[in-house]
Amino acid sequence: MTSSAPMPQELLKIAIEVARDAADTAYRMRAEGVSVAATKSTVTDVVTAADRAVERQVLDALATLRPDDSVLGEEYGGSAAGASGSGVRWIVDPIDGTVNYLYGLPHCAVSLAAEVDGEVVAGVVRNLFTGEEWTATVDGGAWRAGKRLRCSTETDLGQALIATGFGYDPARRSHQARVVAELIPQVRDIRRLGAAALDLCLAAEGRVDAYFEKGLAAWDQAAGGLIASEAGLRVAGLGGLPAGPDLVIAAPEALFAPLHDRLADLDAAGGP
Ligand code: IPD
Repeated sequence: MTSSAPMPQELLKIAIEVARDAADTAYRMRAEGVSVAATKSTVTDVVTAADRAVERQVLDALATLRPDDSVLGEEYGGSAAGASGSGVRWIVDPIDGTVNYLYGLPHCAVSLAAEVDGEVVAGVVRNLFTGEEWTATVDGGAWRAGKRLRCSTETDLGQALIATGFGYDPARRSHQARVVAELIPQVRDIRRLGAAALDLCLAAEGRVDAYFEKGLAAWDQAAGGLIASEAGLRVAGLGGLPAGPDLVIAAPEALFAPLHDRLADLDAAGGP
């Protein structure tokens, strides 16, 4: 870690302050009505005016509070580091679960993480409808509402409730659906809740046993991935690779190998 870099707890404090304001804005804009501002990768991959306004608010807040940091965001991409380049990069998803947001389904979140020299050290995920807020710092545990979180103790894949998600590209979805069709008879059930950051947070407190998804971007998993790993889940990809766009698996130690092996057999990281 850069010697002058702030401590993870300091970064978390800023992340929480910024994410709360961002969630308030997103909630208010939803109450005022929501419309699609544009589409991105496919016609179903929408961006609302709120996605843009909330990310802009986060960028402005971070520019004031941490002017030398850089930011990677879902809507505006990467910003250059400030003049002195602090080694800190923020990763923001202004509204994870945009389709839920569009439909008024109360399962979407602001996700904000801080990386120091490429390692995520602090993160917050806040459900903008319910106010539930998950936080973590590296080696400092994962927390919600003052309680330290521990993942599920399930050891049997056949009894496990597994969350997953689908990308926006139809060909990718077909592949993902085939994987799920093969997996679902071998687990308790599957949940597709619509917000990857929240899936990881739910896994962090055992409200699902495990989670996997292909195609996640850094902003979908940065904060939630730290929260999950600090709650005891192993967060990784296939064959010893780190979690990344090919596949994110988040599972308690006892479930990781059986889920990993099943997903490898099903070529969950393959396809388009
Ligand atoms: C999406 C959600 C969804 C996941 C997709 C993501 P967005 O993010 O997290 O649950 O399945 O892969 O792209 O577009 O709502 O920010």
